[in-house]
Amino acid sequence: MQVAPFEKRWTGIIGIMVAVMLGSILYTAFAYHAHPPGDVETVDSTRLHLTEEFREDNLGVTTRPDGSVLVTLVAHRYGFTPKHIEIPAGKPVIFRVATPDVLHGLHIPGTNINTMVVPGYISVVNAVINYDEVVKYGELADNGSVTVPVFCNEFCGLNHHSMWTEVIILPDS
Ligand code: CUA
Repeated sequence: MQVAPFEKRWTGIIGIMVAVMLGSILYTAFAYHAHPPGDVETVDSTRLHLTEEFREDNLGVTTRPDGSVLVTLVAHRYGFTPKHIEIPAGKPVIFRVATPDVLHGLHIPGTNINTMVVPGYISVVNAVINYDEVVKYGELADNGSVTVPVFCNEFCGLNHHSMWTEVIILPDS
């Protein structure tokens, strides 16, 4: 079989491109611990308000005995519940988010919190909020707390653009 020189050349170039892409995936996986979510937790979205974890009076911010902060959130058309969320900077924060209706997103600028919220699943995000980063994106109050916007970044219906809220980030203590 005769292979034209330009075809050989492009085969080589594409081989290099594939190697660079695979290499960068492996590099970020090992050097930066960038992994796809490892465990899958499911939930019955149609009965979300009846579950122990996502019933209305269980939502919000809880400080756990080890000092980490748990945020239980519901993303729904068109908002986030609860409305008032206060989280400390510099401490481990775990977000657990679910939706009772359609696909939503959760994005907090200045943090690595950016996830899809898929019906039937619980989205879990671990983060440590960097005060110096969020201060660039939020509104600084006199007491040092920063109000940062929270967006839905997945198109979820006609009012997708109005689906947002705010979190208050407290300075490191
Ligand atoms: Cu929810 Cu867009």
